[in-house]
Amino acid sequence: MSKAKTLLSIETSCDETSMALLKANGTLKSPRFKILKNIVSSQIPIHRPFGGVVPNLAKREHLKNLPIVLRQILKTTNNKQQKTTIDYLAVTVGPGLEPALWTGINFAEELAKKLKKPLIGVNHMKGHLYSNWLPVRIEGIRNKVLGIRGKEKNSIIPDSKFIIPKIKFPAIALIVSGGHTILLHMTAINKWTKLGETLDDAAGEAFDKVARMLNLPYPGGPEIQKLAARGDPKAIKFPRPMLNKPGYEFSFSGLKTSVLYYLRDNPKVKKADVAASFQQAVIDVLVKKAIRATEEYRAKSVLLCGGVSANKQLRDNLRQMTNDLRLNFVVPDFEFNTDNAAMIAAAAYINLLQKNKKRLKIEAQGNLTI
Ligand code: KG4
Ligand code: ZN
Repeated sequence: MSKAKTLLSIETSCDETSMALLKANGTLKSPRFKILKNIVSSQIPIHRPFGGVVPNLAKREHLKNLPIVLRQILKTTNNKQQKTTIDYLAVTVGPGLEPALWTGINFAEELAKKLKKPLIGVNHMKGHLYSNWLPVRIEGIRNKVLGIRGKEKNSIIPDSKFIIPKIKFPAIALIVSGGHTILLHMTAINKWTKLGETLDDAAGEAFDKVARMLNLPYPGGPEIQKLAARGDPKAIKFPRPMLNKPGYEFSFSGLKTSVLYYLRDNPKVKKADVAASFQQAVIDVLVKKAIRATEEYRAKSVLLCGGVSANKQLRDNLRQMTNDLRLNFVVPDFEFNTDNAAMIAAAAYINLLQKNKKRLKIEAQGNLTI
């Protein structure tokens, strides 16, 4: 695809109403994305009293938020200096909560009709995977501004630069979200085999459930991370499930039960130590399995994505291990770890580049797999 395309994408698979505008160009070998806008309207305060996402409440909130978010997006396209023409629309069709998915799908279909533009159905998990191709902000870079007049010459302004990650294959991708834990062996941007996934709870789900045991609010991942920062990860020896088994399957339900029993038998324990020890147990399993896969498949890169990739300790541990092995490590900016529509637009563009690819049906598919 030679000319840049502009995509408007919609994501409503769970508890975030998100819309993005993305400019995309390049080929499957080197797709390049520029995010013009990415709006995420979070419903966390609505679901928090229930300790998790309530599907019908999510649906109601999406219905309310979608037109508001669209108005904000259209402000960007109608910028007086630079009007943006939308070429394609994209919407998440699954996996996710079906009542929530349908709100985004119905809204996208109506909008596509109104704008007379094609609509592309997107697999949410491919969205997470392709979030690794989104531009990454290099924080803290201060550019020297070389002004015309001498006195401006050395003035330094805070700035941030973006780089497009260079991903070398073969690659190992670890997708860790609230609903999935998947390890992929990728030989090209659109070619992979699934090495393994979780047999029971997903990594994020385990974080959420253990958080509830510790009386922490939903969503549990960020809360456990915060509490763990004050605890000792070596304080309690929780099991590392499946670590010494061959293969790449995961299981977190036994670990969750261990935490439950530990709390029951040790009511006076320092909760920060439980959080830190649990978090480290999850991370050890994820990191070791991913690294084992890089050795078996002689991978050059490791990609980390999905909501749990926002976990600082996980990022740091995996970054350290991949650095030691001189592997290329890619993780999206924090904004794109948890659910967002920018990643859905990126996945739609990759889909468009594959001319003979079967398109997904535009209907909610709660259990769609990658
Ligand atoms: O990808 P995502 O936003 O939604 C799904 O597709 O499931 O992932 C949400 C999950 C939740 O389970 C949440 O607790 C977890 O990601 N999460 C984290 C962190 N931030 C979000 N888990 C651990 N540490 C974090 N900092
Ligand atoms: Zn997600």
